[in-house]
Amino acid sequence: MEGLTPLHVAVERRSEKHVRWYMDHDAPWEMQDNGSLTPGELALALGLRRIFNIIFEGAVRNEYRFWNLPLTEMPWPDENPYRRASMRQQPFSIRNGDYLNAPVTYRNPRPEIPGDFAMIDDQGNGVMMEWERPLMKESARLLCEGMGEGKSILNIGFGLGIIDSYFQTYSPANHTIIEAHPQCLKYMRKNGWYDKPNVRILEGRWQDFIGPMFSPKKVKRIPDQPGGGGKGLGRFDIIYFDTYQEGYLGHVHFLRVAARLMSGPSARLSFFHGHLCKWKLGKEIYAEVARWHALDVGINSEYHDFSIDPDKEWTSFNPNKPSREQLDHPWKIPICALAPTVQRSVRRASGWAAPINEVPYEVLDIRKVWDSI
Ligand SMILES: C[S@@+](CC[C@H](N)C(=O)[O-])C[C@H]1O[C@@H](n2cnc3c(N)ncnc32)[C@H](O)[C@@H]1O
Repeated sequence: MEGLTPLHVAVERRSEKHVRWYMDHDAPWEMQDNGSLTPGELALALGLRRIFNIIFEGAVRNEYRFWNLPLTEMPWPDENPYRRASMRQQPFSIRNGDYLNAPVTYRNPRPEIPGDFAMIDDQGNGVMMEWERPLMKESARLLCEGMGEGKSILNIGFGLGIIDSYFQTYSPANHTIIEAHPQCLKYMRKNGWYDKPNVRILEGRWQDFIGPMFSPKKVKRIPDQPGGGGKGLGRFDIIYFDTYQEGYLGHVHFLRVAARLMSGPSARLSFFHGHLCKWKLGKEIYAEVARWHALDVGINSEYHDFSIDPDKEWTSFNPNKPSREQLDHPWKIPICALAPTVQRSVRRASGWAAPINEVPYEVLDIRKVWDSI
C-alpha cells in the first residue's frame, strides 16, 4: 500500500461506498500515487467508470465549495509534493497588483522562429503568446458568428490584442477594451488602437469600472460609447474575459458581476479557461466548477473543445516547461448565455449566498436582473 492515499486504496478495492465517503469528506483528489496517477485516473486505468464518476462529481462539488468560502476561512494548503496540481494555494499566491506594477516586454522570445511574438512578464512567463492565436480566433468566431454587424463588444485584458483584432473584423458598433498594464496601454497606443473610431479604451483594472469595488469617481471618467450611444459602461452583446495573475478567484469575482453587463438573452460571454490547463482531468473538473459558479449567477455555459498542436505550444521560458504529453488535450472554449431562470434549489443546494455588497441583486429570475438595473 506504499505510495497510496486512502482514496487510492478505496479505488483499488473497488469500494464505491468508501470512495463516496472520502469524497464527502473533501479527500484530496489531486494526489498522485507512486505511478503518478491520481485516484480518478487510477479508477479510469482500472476501468471503474462509476467510481471515476463519484470522484469527478465529488471533486467538482468540493472545489466549488472551496471558492465560496470567505477568504479568511480558506484553509492554508499543505505543500505535499505528490499533489498533481492544486488550485487551492492560489488565493495565497496570486498577486495581480504585483504583476501590474512590474515591467513587461513585447518581443520575439524564440528568434529562431520568425514571426513569433509574446508579451512577457518580469519573471519570464508568457502573459500572452502568438501560438494562442488560433484559440482566440475560434473564441471570437464562436462569440460573434451569426450575431450580425453593429454589436456592442466588451473585452477585458488586451495582451497582444489578438482577440480584439478578430472582434474588429465583425464590424462592431462599439468595442470597449479594459486594460490595466501601463506598458500594454502604450503598446495599444503605438499600434493605433486609440485612433479606431469604434473603440473605447478604459485604462485601469476591470474592478475599477465594474462591480462592488468600483469607485464612483472613476465611473465619471468613463467616456461614452464611441458613436455617442450609452452612458457609463453600458451593456454588451459580446463579452470576453482574459486577464493575468487573477487566478480562479478573479474569475469567480468577475462572474458575480457579469450578468448585469449582458445586453439580454442573446448576449454571449466567454473567458479564457486556463484553470489547471496543463492537466486534462484538472481542466475538465474546473470547467464544471466554473459552470456551477456561472449557474449561481444565472449564466449557462457550453464548452467547445479546440485543439492546438502541442508542439507549437509553450507556456514559459522557465526550465519546467510542460511536456508534450501534459499539453496533448483540447482546450475548452466556454460560450455562456443568460439562463432563462435559475431554480431556487440550485442556489440553495450550493449552500452559498453571496454577501449582499458583492452581488447587489437577487439572481432567481434573470429577467428581474436586467429589468432592475
Ligand atoms: C492573457 S492577456 C490577454 C490576451 C488577449 N486575450 C489577446 O487576445 O491578446 C491578459 C491581459 O490582461 C491584463 N490584465 C491583468 N490584470 C488585469 C485587470 N485586473 N484588469 C484589466 N486588465 C488586466 C494584462 O495586462 C494583459 O494585457
